[in-house]
Amino acid sequence: MLAFIGGTGLTQMPSLELVGEHSASTRWGEASAPVQEGVLAGQKVLFLARHGNPHVLLPHQVNYRANLAALKNAGATAIVAANAVGGITERCGSGALVVPDQLIDYTWGRDSTYFDDRSGPVTHVDFSWPFDTALRLQLVDAFEQLQLEPVNGGVYGATQGPRLETAAEIERMERDGCDIVGMTGMPEAVLARELELPYAMLSLVVNPAAGKADREITMAEIEAVLHRGMDAVHAVLAKLASMQE
Ligand code: HPA
Repeated sequence: MLAFIGGTGLTQMPSLELVGEHSASTRWGEASAPVQEGVLAGQKVLFLARHGNPHVLLPHQVNYRANLAALKNAGATAIVAANAVGGITERCGSGALVVPDQLIDYTWGRDSTYFDDRSGPVTHVDFSWPFDTALRLQLVDAFEQLQLEPVNGGVYGATQGPRLETAAEIERMERDGCDIVGMTGMPEAVLARELELPYAMLSLVVNPAAGKADREITMAEIEAVLHRGMDAVHAVLAKLASMQE
């Protein structure tokens, strides 16, 4: 069953016809919220609000291990994660929807593996391509069916937050090759990989990253772009659901 993780601006899916809820309790602790199971565009899907509903958890406070485990326990077989990001490169301006194909992890101090309980063999998962190619292409296909154009590919830089970056940090990230910057993509993506769940990301650019515009980044600006962009995010996720067998 396809599962969605909703980030900032997507704490609820109003078009989901709820059929039940799965427990937030896992052996890794409590997920941000119970996993909702419902019908979207005629297909059963799962939904989890990454920051809780209402939105209370900051990116570094999210129990990513519990979130991914709760989704797996609820029957998830693939995950599409929506998130709000800052735009670094020109093609990722405010309002752009990006389906990244790479990431760089700048986070620290987060529980980022299931393999640290010393009970099993030492395991290093392959993470050369952090996003599932088939799922990414399906997501891009969903955009095309709606005559919408995503930025197909790009590098997501995951920062620790909750503060925004300095202009110099964004310059460094740009030199590293990052197109967008967010605070939640890691360790979410790698935990999905460890659970062998195909994972893809749909990122809405809600502000120019630090130093990319001659003004302060305000929550009001972010919220206005979020508000405008969320209809497209909902439409793409519903289209993607309708494409599942
Ligand atoms: N930086 C990091 N995370 C973000 C940003 C940003 O500029 N905008 C939305 N999430």
